[in-house]
Amino acid sequence: MTETKKRITIIKPDDCHVHLRDSEILKKVIKYTGKFYKRAVIMPNLDDPITNLSKAISYRDRILNSMHPNYIFQPLMTCYLTHSTIPKELEIGFSKKIFIAAKLYPSYSTTNSKEGVKNINFITHILECMEKIGMPLLIHGEETDQNIDIYDREAVFIENTLEPLRKKFPKLKIVLEHITTKESVEYVKKHNSKYLSATITPHHLILNRNHMFSKGIQPYLYCLPILKKNFHQQVLREAIASGDKHFFLGSDTAPHLHKNKINFFGHAGIFNAPSSLLCYVTIFEKMNALKHLQSFCSENGPKFYNIPVNQETITLVKKPYKILKKISIGKDMIIPFLAGKTLNWSLET
Ligand code: DOR
Ligand code: ZN
Repeated sequence: MTETKKRITIIKPDDCHVHLRDSEILKKVIKYTGKFYKRAVIMPNLDDPITNLSKAISYRDRILNSMHPNYIFQPLMTCYLTHSTIPKELEIGFSKKIFIAAKLYPSYSTTNSKEGVKNINFITHILECMEKIGMPLLIHGEETDQNIDIYDREAVFIENTLEPLRKKFPKLKIVLEHITTKESVEYVKKHNSKYLSATITPHHLILNRNHMFSKGIQPYLYCLPILKKNFHQQVLREAIASGDKHFFLGSDTAPHLHKNKINFFGHAGIFNAPSSLLCYVTIFEKMNALKHLQSFCSENGPKFYNIPVNQETITLVKKPYKILKKISIGKDMIIPFLAGKTLNWSLET
């Protein structure tokens, strides 16, 4: 039986994984997140990463100052972990509710990650502190050894890094960000732990690696972790359709200028903020799983982060919605995910 809902009202969602960048790009992209989401977990991988409290406070102010006055939006800040992160500073930031979490980028794993962590054993004292105070660790879970096939880096990370890490810190709260594989889904399900959850992006639910090479090479579909086989895409879809509370919404919306997307060394990242929520509802509908939409979008994340669910609601309606073609940034532009395409769901205004 297929679901034939025409209208669905849910608690206003939170996007638990967002890149907003800074300056002109921030000013142009923020409203798309504010339109659909009440809060967002803000990634700290700016060109000058958010590695301490004072940087986080001023970045939070720049975000709030850039937001359209129509939207009441709360940025939830994260700290970029380096070998010289000071545990006491994390503790203060977390207790003052400035930091909601800290992000682990293995060095050279993705955009602006070179100042990240080269060896996880060098940050043992930091992780001990986070475990003690209950501060979540958000992980870009890919091995960085270039000898490991790019399609295997997530699965190898689980085996070589995540499993030993969880054994060493059994009460450390961990979000495995933007998972893309059967191995990750099974790992999260198998452990069924209140200390372990995962986010899933709309693009990894909608696409697989064939799409990246259809009609030529498509730089706009290049993201990290890289799109995987159709088989893994289907496992991700089943994970959200199962209603398992360990999975929640993190869009990984990641704007890049056009000139950087189509460069010889094209940047990884998909800017999906104008359509992410509409993509999720489309997939849940396709999976006959609309009854689990609200928990994925609005409940599982806040429960994991130990923050109240939002009080507002939003209504999505079965009405065509055309995704904008581009956002101009000076002489350049940002092209959104599914630019110019029409989705069957829109936000009721
Ligand atoms: O595709 C990605 N883009 N993956 C990441 O992990 C980072 C992000 C970005 O910052 O552009
Ligand atoms: Zn990201």
